[in-house]
Amino acid sequence: MKEEHKGVLFRYSNKLGINSRPNAWTLFFGKQIYEMGKNPYTGEILPDLNVTMHCDRPNDNENFWMHRFRDLGYHTLMADDWGSNAIAYPYCWGFLRPPAKHYMTPFQRRREEIDAVMLTNTSAELCHETFQYTSGYLEQFMAAYKNESQLGFIWNSNLAHDYQNGLYHADDHFYRM
Ligand SMILES: *[C@@H]1O[C@H](CO)[C@@H](O)[C@H](O)[C@H]1NC(C)=O
Ligand SMILES: *[C@@H]1O[C@H](CO)[C@@H](O)[C@H](O)[C@H]1NC(C)=O
Ligand SMILES: *[C@@H]1O[C@H](CO)[C@@H](O)[C@H](O)[C@H]1NC(C)=O
Repeated sequence: MKEEHKGVLFRYSNKLGINSRPNAWTLFFGKQIYEMGKNPYTGEILPDLNVTMHCDRPNDNENFWMHRFRDLGYHTLMADDWGSNAIAYPYCWGFLRPPAKHYMTPFQRRREEIDAVMLTNTSAELCHETFQYTSGYLEQFMAAYKNESQLGFIWNSNLAHDYQNGLYHADDHFYRM
């Protein structure tokens, strides 16, 4: 990605705590929601927000970079590869309104419903992985707004979830995309 496609690695965007949510908070809003204990690199750092503020109420009014791009006239897309999604997991509000113009969560929520048999069976029979849905959505978005300002953000948890090496088997897919 770096050599062929001008990819940029976000150095220092490190893992803050276990699970997606605390890391989504730093990535989306630049805020720390977990306490960080004293460690070899730094002293203790207290969280910016308590649980009432980061979980028990919607996040729509946070200063989210995607909203700033929206205000600049960009077309925006956001897609997690799972229904609960990073910012709401496991029982928090997350976004009350769609955070982007094109938002894929209704699809994932439907896909994960117990009675969505045709949908789950079809993806199982086609050996579809969840990153193929998010990246397919992004590809359609990029084509639809060709030559216009666009910002797409996809969050693929399943690729490397529980298995770090899982990330690499999709290299070719993303390289070609
Ligand atoms: C979190 O902080 C807010 C604002 O300071 C306060 O109203 C609320 O009671 C606090 N919640 C907890 C669980 O401490
Ligand atoms: C979906 O797959 C399950 C498990 O393989 C099977 O029992 C069921 O009949 C399938 N349902 C449909 C509607 O294809
Ligand atoms: C996009 O821009 C290129 C170069 O200016 C032009 O050739 C092409 O027709 C444009 N495509 C669309 C869909 O507007």
